[in-house]
Amino acid sequence: MARILITSALPYINGIKHLGNLVGSQLPADLYARYARARGHEVMFICATDEHGTPAEIAAAKAGQPVAEYCAAMHEVQGELARGFGLSFDHFGRSSSARNHALTQHLAARLGAAGLIEEVSEKQVYSHTDGRFLPDRYIEGTCPNCGYERARGDQCEECTKQLDPTDLINPRSAISGATDLEVRETRHLYLRQSKLRDTLDQWIDSQKGWPVLTTSIAKKWLHDGDGLQDRGITRDLDWGVPVQFEGAPWGGMDGKVFYVWFDAPIEYIAATAEWADALGKPDSEWRRWWRMDEGAEDVRYVQFMGKDNVPFHTLSFPATLIGANFDGAEPWKMVDYIKSFNYLNYDGGQFSTSLGRGVFMDQALALLPSDYWRWWLLSHAPENSDSEFTWENFQASVNKDLADVLGNLVSRVTKFCRSKFGEMVPEGGSYGAREQQLIDDLTRGLTSYQNVMDGMMVRRSAQDLRALWVLGNEYLQEAAPWSAFKTDPEQAAAQIRLALNLIRFYAVISQPFIPDASARIMAALRCDDWSWPEDMAQALGVLPAGHVFEVPDVLFAKITDEQRIEWEAQFSGKN
Ligand code: 2FM
Ligand code: ZN
Repeated sequence: MARILITSALPYINGIKHLGNLVGSQLPADLYARYARARGHEVMFICATDEHGTPAEIAAAKAGQPVAEYCAAMHEVQGELARGFGLSFDHFGRSSSARNHALTQHLAARLGAAGLIEEVSEKQVYSHTDGRFLPDRYIEGTCPNCGYERARGDQCEECTKQLDPTDLINPRSAISGATDLEVRETRHLYLRQSKLRDTLDQWIDSQKGWPVLTTSIAKKWLHDGDGLQDRGITRDLDWGVPVQFEGAPWGGMDGKVFYVWFDAPIEYIAATAEWADALGKPDSEWRRWWRMDEGAEDVRYVQFMGKDNVPFHTLSFPATLIGANFDGAEPWKMVDYIKSFNYLNYDGGQFSTSLGRGVFMDQALALLPSDYWRWWLLSHAPENSDSEFTWENFQASVNKDLADVLGNLVSRVTKFCRSKFGEMVPEGGSYGAREQQLIDDLTRGLTSYQNVMDGMMVRRSAQDLRALWVLGNEYLQEAAPWSAFKTDPEQAAAQIRLALNLIRFYAVISQPFIPDASARIMAALRCDDWSWPEDMAQALGVLPAGHVFEVPDVLFAKITDEQRIEWEAQFSGKN
């Protein structure tokens, strides 16, 4: 048994996330967390809302609410949707928490003591129309690196380059569209990450087996052009973690806050402290996940995120943690594996919040139960390249994989048993060569499934799981207990006994993908033995003859053509 720390990139607080956001971090992280728990590991699965910075301020202004109120309300909404999707966080925190304020200030002070913070008088863009500085997302323009015309002041979404507002070509205010901008002097703190370039480079080189997508992005920003740049980590904003605090090694920073990307990853740690607080546990309980000198040396830490987040997690956040340990007094746990994702597109274009294009988490749950979405999204995760949601593909996947292959098997077996033997696992008969072959095939298939799940190969895992479901269908097709019953009821009884156990086996191994359906199957089977199959023959004997069950309601309803056509139109963003 291992101890596995899992974090999902923190969703911005600024509204309900779409399915592309979900599949880019939270959902695959949940898949892995559920699987790791099912295999008996001790898991700490952490997520939170990312509440600071310009996205939060802009959204609150649009909603006409004070930003603190807006964030509190939206945190509840996002938490509810996460529960709706079965996301099994141990804690869903808030980056605006007192814990995160304190830890962010503490780590900044440590970086100051390490000589890694520089006070810089710099030029920032000031908008006359808006009467304020325009940091980060308050400004938009053309990316100097790739020419994308809607790059934001902090990062280009297209090429992932981290930017400063003054880098943008043809800049304009994202608040008012104003172009009467002026560059003014203001004082800020810079994180001198360039001093850590070689350390970071070596650290990345020492990580074995990271996805190419992760290392290639990290290496690019370490070595391209002038190499790793020092970054401003403070902003002229009201909402955020104050830069001036008691014991701060700098002065004159009143009215400034830390940059959202400085405090957001620190919230991974702070949210674990929030978890302990919520359960009334002592600090040692969260610190054993995060401090190498307090128990975290045997923790494996895995992060999940979209590709645009990779530079912050491979460079900036590690720089914070490495820098804070300059004197060896604060050895923080560093990430062991970064699983990053490409983008999910929507029906020939991009998801668009502003255009209402694509399906958002609340809308998805209003249409269909979460397992339908979980299955499609995970089995089409944008791992090696961008992938695309189409309603046709979604319909085909749900109808074939879930309804025809898994759902149908459960329904046929339980109903046949009820009609011939009653709602009880039948006794009599014995297993023969065909059953042994099934056990061998399942053993092989399960080993492969476990390997790809261990390796976080999300699509391959879905394929392997489906292949295991197919083996059961093929067995039933060949064994045909419905025919056998007519000539040899004992044999049919043995086949159905095996098939009912097979259904339980499927519920257990499918749980990371489709937790609700698995729970419904187990409830119908009146079984609460969720133990992971270690030995297939034994796993197929968990439900003994005489065990009472019920026929479950339809597990997965098929999506009709009418529904598909209606939903296609509803979410096209054209209305
Ligand atoms: O890109 C995003 O959605 C960010 N809110 C992710 C933050 S991840 C972490 F560092 F907090
Ligand atoms: Zn770009």
